[in-house]
Amino acid sequence: ATGAPATGALAGVRVLITAGGTREPLDPVRYLGNKSSGKQGVALAEAALAAGASVTLIHAPMEVPAPAGATIQRIETALELRSATLAAAATADVVIMAAAVADFRPASISSGKIKKRDNVDDPVITLVRNPDILLEVVAHRAAQNQQQLIVGFAAETGDDQGDARSYAEQKLRRKGCDLLVVNEVGPGDSGAERVFGQDTNQVEILSLDGASPVQSGGSKREVADAVVHLIAQRLSTG
Ligand code: CTP
Ligand code: CA
Repeated sequence: ATGAPATGALAGVRVLITAGGTREPLDPVRYLGNKSSGKQGVALAEAALAAGASVTLIHAPMEVPAPAGATIQRIETALELRSATLAAAATADVVIMAAAVADFRPASISSGKIKKRDNVDDPVITLVRNPDILLEVVAHRAAQNQQQLIVGFAAETGDDQGDARSYAEQKLRRKGCDLLVVNEVGPGDSGAERVFGQDTNQVEILSLDGASPVQSGGSKREVADAVVHLIAQRLSTG
């Protein structure tokens, strides 16, 4: 059941989308980042707008422009994404966490540019864990007794302990979101290159309630339409 959602399928629905890859500063000119292009998140915003939703897009740096017609908030770090997302989630009917959030950040940020001569030995960067924003959004929904549909994203690789699907199912349960959009990334660089920065995507959408997984592939907009279609279905059946 893929394909574009009906016109007006999300009329009057407030959709919050996060996109892009967070940046964690090391010093005034350097950061730890990731390969997220923001394309899938922007495609989701466009698909939701086309379905009549009012869209807020909170985004870290992206390779593509933010869409016209959405309310845009730009952030850099995971901590900034967290406060912006938790504030905006309070008035959202749907939250889609497409951002690639840094799991760790440097424990301290140097106020001046780190110089080679400061380091007699090769430097070691100490990292600390970032909060899990998706988990917090799910907890917040429960605490507020809020009606909200929450969608997570994951890129998974299989290994000798389990395949990508089983890791994705564990992640869905751990996060407690309603839907998890899973990219099956093959091992190694070429696997990641099939997703990051590309214009196409191949996903499986898993449901916490045990509904059968939905496959979708094609352009990132086609995948976005499939996700929006599924969301509209969920909202209409309560
Ligand atoms: N996410 C989040 N906050 C984080 C990390 C991830 O909200 N600090 C969200 C992502 O936006 C995504 C989902 O959680 O929607 C899954 O991200 P992923 O990196 O796959 O999950 P992790 O729990 O970080 O697990 P892993 O160890 O596999 O990276
Ligand atoms: Ca992660």
